[in-house]
Amino acid sequence: MQTKSLLSLLALASVPLASASNGKGSGKSCSHKGLDWYAKKAGLKYFGAATDSPGQRERAGLESAYPKYDEIMWKSGEFGQTTPTNGQKWLFTEPTQGTFNFTEGDIVASLAHQHHKLLRCHALVWHSQLAPWVEAGNWTKDELRAIIVSHITNVMTHYKGQCYAWDVVNEAFNEDGTYRESVFSTVLGGDEFIQLAFETASKLDPKAKLYYNDYNLESPSVKTEAVRKLVRQLQSKKIKIDGVGFQAHLTAESRPTLDEHVAAIEGFAELGVEVALTELDVRLEMPGNATNLAQQKEAYKNAVGACVQVDGCIGVTIWDFYDPFSWVPAVFPGEGAALLWFDDFSRHPAYEGVVEALTNKTQGHHGKGPRGVKRWVA
Ligand code: XIL
Repeated sequence: MQTKSLLSLLALASVPLASASNGKGSGKSCSHKGLDWYAKKAGLKYFGAATDSPGQRERAGLESAYPKYDEIMWKSGEFGQTTPTNGQKWLFTEPTQGTFNFTEGDIVASLAHQHHKLLRCHALVWHSQLAPWVEAGNWTKDELRAIIVSHITNVMTHYKGQCYAWDVVNEAFNEDGTYRESVFSTVLGGDEFIQLAFETASKLDPKAKLYYNDYNLESPSVKTEAVRKLVRQLQSKKIKIDGVGFQAHLTAESRPTLDEHVAAIEGFAELGVEVALTELDVRLEMPGNATNLAQQKEAYKNAVGACVQVDGCIGVTIWDFYDPFSWVPAVFPGEGAALLWFDDFSRHPAYEGVVEALTNKTQGHHGKGPRGVKRWVA
């Protein structure tokens, strides 16, 4: 099927809002009004894209695309923030006990520094992409506590001063609000390992915001309630937690509504923590067509629009920007085209949906005014 040319055609039809002048510009010099420019205008701190070090990118054989990719990633002004998709995970940073390796994480961190992008750091304690030795050990509680403390201490110390935020604990809950089974929850219990992780992190880098990060938090549910309970629990113990990351791995066909997104974000904002969309992507049942690309546009628009509208939602990160480097096809067979740039670097219609959201076009659908531009008063 001629998916790609159809997709390109659709994309071309929708393109270049961002480079056109819309009369909204400040006098500030900015050669290209990319998504980050619009995000900052809307009062967000950033619009970013995660990226991987070249050797780790999802699809090999695309080296010829790298110059164009790097241009968009680092120089176009589309993105003001990045997150290393893999390089700071336990598997890479402490592959064997007590041996630390920051090579992969440093590649992205130094590019971010060089190009003046804010860096979100990801992820300290997670059951997945964990070094096998952590799971293989038959640890006592004391041993596992020491392992967690040593890992967090070494990794956060290495990146001290470089991270806007750290995802301290990632994906600790099941969908029913119980703690996910992992070596951490099995040996220490969910409450204890999470508290230990945040307590340890709080002593290491005063500049870094400490986040709990998870998926399926974008609509109110038993899972969002469990995470809210966790936030309150840490707060009541005076353990620092600054934010909750909504991964926002969405599907075009069954996307949350704008109101659901707003309600979920507000549920955390009212606890006094900030929210960020940390890994936004919207996957399609392949092949893409006019219908599912329109649904995808709506999904992106709802997610970003809610973040713009709710005070306390501070930024949006998409999980890479270029479809060939998306994690989706490898993990969800038959699904793909989840990002904003197609294989040929033309833009998805959803790009325009994001610009619409960032220019407050969703505002009329909800009672609150745009944040930043004209903050609503509680
Ligand atoms: C993904 C990466 O994008 C892939 O390259 C890797 O193979 C698996 O992990 N939730 C997270 C991210 O918190 O770290 C995951 O990233 C996607 C799901």
